[in-house]
Amino acid sequence: MAILPIYLDGTEPLRKKAKPVKELDMNTIALIKDMFDTMHAADGIGLAANQVGVLKRIIVVDISSLEDTKDIKPFALINPEVISKAGKCTMEEGCLSIPSVRAEVVRPDKITVKYRDSNFNEQQIVADGILARVILHEIDHLDGVLFTDYVPKSKLKEYKELLEKIKNGDIEIKYPVVTNQRVLL
Ligand code: NI
Repeated sequence: MAILPIYLDGTEPLRKKAKPVKELDMNTIALIKDMFDTMHAADGIGLAANQVGVLKRIIVVDISSLEDTKDIKPFALINPEVISKAGKCTMEEGCLSIPSVRAEVVRPDKITVKYRDSNFNEQQIVADGILARVILHEIDHLDGVLFTDYVPKSKLKEYKELLEKIKNGDIEIKYPVVTNQRVLL
């Protein structure tokens, strides 16, 4: 088990586009396992490879801690791609890379996503509600997009000081992180 430090807002990998995974080698298998460990250690419900500083198109999702979705087993999505979307819904979001900041974001309500599973087999999933929300949030990470990019500047003002602190590494967080200034283990 390896818990990797999570890159915070202000670090480079969060703004880079991750590259498709071509084959499932030992490194990728180990990375996926470490991503699950890292997400669980931080009490997260989703994590993208960019957030651990790796530019591969891999996300992990675990919403089994939520009452309504406790039967959905944790799963990894390699090279996820939204192939259809419908509706719109507003939900409050947070992010392990932007701790303590929460804001409402409008996203599609229902999506169909094509991906490869942790055995590299092709899969397709239809998701709505919180599952769709987490998958869309994490796919955004793979494209260098953060949820705060959708939040109006007037609303982000509330968090100005906190966002500055995150960017300057001037924060205390209960999981290991990499800030733009230093690594905090
Ligand atoms: Ni996030």
